[in-house]
Order: sequence, then structure tokens, then C-alpha cells
Amino acid sequence: MKMGCLTLLLLFFFTLIHLVIPTAAQYCYDTGNYTSNSTYRANLNTLLSSMYSNTEIDYGFYNFSAGESPNKVNAIVLCRGDVSTDVCRTCINESSSTLLQSCPNQMEAIIWAEKCVLRYSHRSIFNMLDTDPLLGYYNIGDVPDVGAFNKVLRPLLDSLRNSTASGNSTHKFALQSVPVPNFETIYALLECTPDLSRLDCNNCLSQVQVFIPRCCNGKQGGRFVTPSCDIRYEIYSFYDPAAEPPPPPLVPSAASPPPELPTTTQGI
Ligand SMILES: *[C@@H]1O[C@H](CO)[C@@H](O)[C@H](O)[C@H]1NC(C)=O
Ligand SMILES: *[C@@H]1O[C@H](CO)[C@@H](O)[C@H](O)[C@H]1NC(C)=O
Ligand SMILES: *[C@@H]1O[C@H](CO)[C@@H](O)[C@H](O)[C@H]1NC(C)=O
Ligand SMILES: *[C@@H]1O[C@H](CO)[C@@H](O)[C@H](O)[C@H]1NC(C)=O
Ligand SMILES: *[C@@H]1O[C@H](CO)[C@@H](O)[C@H](O)[C@H]1NC(C)=O
Ligand SMILES: *[C@@H]1O[C@H](CO)[C@@H](O)[C@H](O)[C@H]1NC(C)=O
Repeated sequence: MKMGCLTLLLLFFFTLIHLVIPTAAQYCYDTGNYTSNSTYRANLNTLLSSMYSNTEIDYGFYNFSAGESPNKVNAIVLCRGDVSTDVCRTCINESSSTLLQSCPNQMEAIIWAEKCVLRYSHRSIFNMLDTDPLLGYYNIGDVPDVGAFNKVLRPLLDSLRNSTASGNSTHKFALQSVPVPNFETIYALLECTPDLSRLDCNNCLSQVQVFIPRCCNGKQGGRFVTPSCDIRYEIYSFYDPAAEPPPPPLVPSAASPPPELPTTTQGI
């Protein structure tokens, strides 16, 4: 199974396609191993529990280090922008355990859980754009009208990419929903680790976005992840609807007629 995944990874330019969207995806880097009684593992344990118990940082992005080189461990956690601090901490706790089980010896590993991303490494990972690996997962359901769907999806992702990249040093996150005519509503969420510059965030999301039509054109949903940024869209609301920005205000002008109400032609 593991070999299969690695082979696929090479064939797809470090991109792995799965048919269903998993609740969590993990990736163990092959950049170095530690032993179970090593100083590195002790530092890693210290770091993960300090992240979990930290209550000072409450904006969902954590970058911490523990130990001294060559056993220094760096870690980053990014919680999804619509989740509470409690949900964030629970996600960190569960993801830490899952990741240590999945990658029991690797010095560098990452997990994309539903509500948080956790990554640790012996290398420096702060303030750095990293799009390798780029993993994609899609919902196997097809949309009835691909053209109409893409006509809504593409501008939505373009607009959210701009909003995400325009965020500040603690939040680079945006979500929104837009209805597709005669179909469902698309719900989309984009995020970058906020330590990235605006340019790097935009660059990261662009790389992911370019990939979407190549693998998943006409699919009802997808999740595309890299260490620095990720994109998800679905035809159901997978995030807290209260986090949505208000719709743009209608500005009626004296010269234009009032907006028409939709008319029903049924039942004549
Ligand atoms: C790390 O361990 C795995 C087996 O668990 C092995 O396949 C891999 O080659 C090792 N990597 C390094 C860099 O030693
Ligand atoms: C624990 O570490 C010692 C040296 O620090 C080493 O000799 C021993 O093999 C290690 N044991 C395990 C189980 O990794
Ligand atoms: C996760 O939470 C459990 C109890 O809920 C606790 O025992 C454990 O130490 C926590 N894990 C970490 C990494 O802090
Ligand atoms: C990008 O976002 C910024 C800040 O939210 C906004 O001022 C600008 O108009 C947007 N640009 C485009 C092309 O949407
Ligand atoms: C960053 O943006 C978020 C969301 O817009 C806001 O709540 C927060 O106060 C901002 N932080 C800084 C340091 O500007
Ligand atoms: C963590 O990130 C903050 C804000 O981006 C930065 O000021 C701080 O230096 C970083 N910490 C480390 C250990 O690099």
C-alpha cells in the first residue's frame, strides 16, 4: 500500500489522487529518521504537548521550536479560520497522536486534518513557501453541467485567493459560498500559513488552483493540500456558515428600476 502510494506520487508530480475525501491525510517525509529513545523524539514530545497546552496564542497559528541543533524540532500548526480555540486544541491533540503513529520514526511529517494542519521538521520551516507534496482528493460525484459549474467555481477561487493572500500575519484565510444556476451552491475555503508573504501565499494557491482542472474537472468537490496552503470546495456547507462574509450590499441608484423578484412559471 505504502509503495503504491509512493509510486503514484512520482507519476503524478508529487500529487496523489484519492477517490474520496478523507478526514485526515498524512505524509511522512524521507529526510531523516530518529530512534524511539532519541533526544529528537523527546524534544518532539515536549513540543507537541507545549503546543497543546499553550493558551496564550488564540488566533489559530502556532510556530514553535524545542531543543538545540542537531536535535532541534520546529513545528507549525494552522487551525482553520472558522474554528474555536477549543476545537483547535482538540484537533492539535488528536492530530499529534495520529501523526506520531503514522510516521513513528520520521523526523519530518505533516497531517492535514479536517480542522487543522500540523507539521514538524528538523529543518527550518517558518516563513517558507513549500508546495511539495501537493496532494489532491476529490468527491467522485460528477456535476451535471461542467461549464456552468466552472463558471462559478473559477471566479470564486480567484476572488478567495486574493482575499486569502491579502490577510495579515496572523490570518490568511477566506471562505464563501455562491450558488450555481440550476444546481447546488459551491462552498469554498482557502488558507495559507500566515507567516507567508502576500506574494508567496498567492503563488502557493495559484499552483494548487492550476492543478484542479487537470485532475478533477467536473467533480462535485475536492481538497487540495500542500504544506503552505490548501483549498477545499464542496456542494455542501463543511464550515461554520456564520463565518461567511456578508453578501455585497445592493446599492440601489435612483435611475435604475428596483430589482425584479424571481417569477414562478410553474402551475399555469
Ligand atoms: C527511514 O526509515 C524508513 C523505514 O522506516 C526507510 O525506508 C528510510 O529509507 C529511512 N530514511 C532514511 C533517510 O534513513
Ligand atoms: C537507546 O539509546 C542507546 C544509546 O543512546 C542505544 O544504544 C540503544 O540501542 C537505544 N535503544 C533503542 C530501543 O532505540
Ligand atoms: C491529549 O489529551 C489527552 C487527554 O484529553 C491528554 O492525556 C494528552 O496528553 C493530550 N496530548 C497531548 C499531546 O497533549
Ligand atoms: C484583492 O483584495 C484586496 C483586499 O481585500 C482588494 O482591495 C482588491 O480589490 C482585490 N483585488 C481583486 C482583483 O479582486
Ligand atoms: C488580522 O486579521 C484578523 C481577521 O481579519 C483580525 O481579526 C486580526 O485582528 C488581524 N490581526 C492583526 C495583527 O492585524
Ligand atoms: C513565529 O511566528 C511569528 C509571527 O509570524 C514570528 O514573529 C516568530 O519569530 C516566529 N517564531 C519562531 C520561533 O520563528
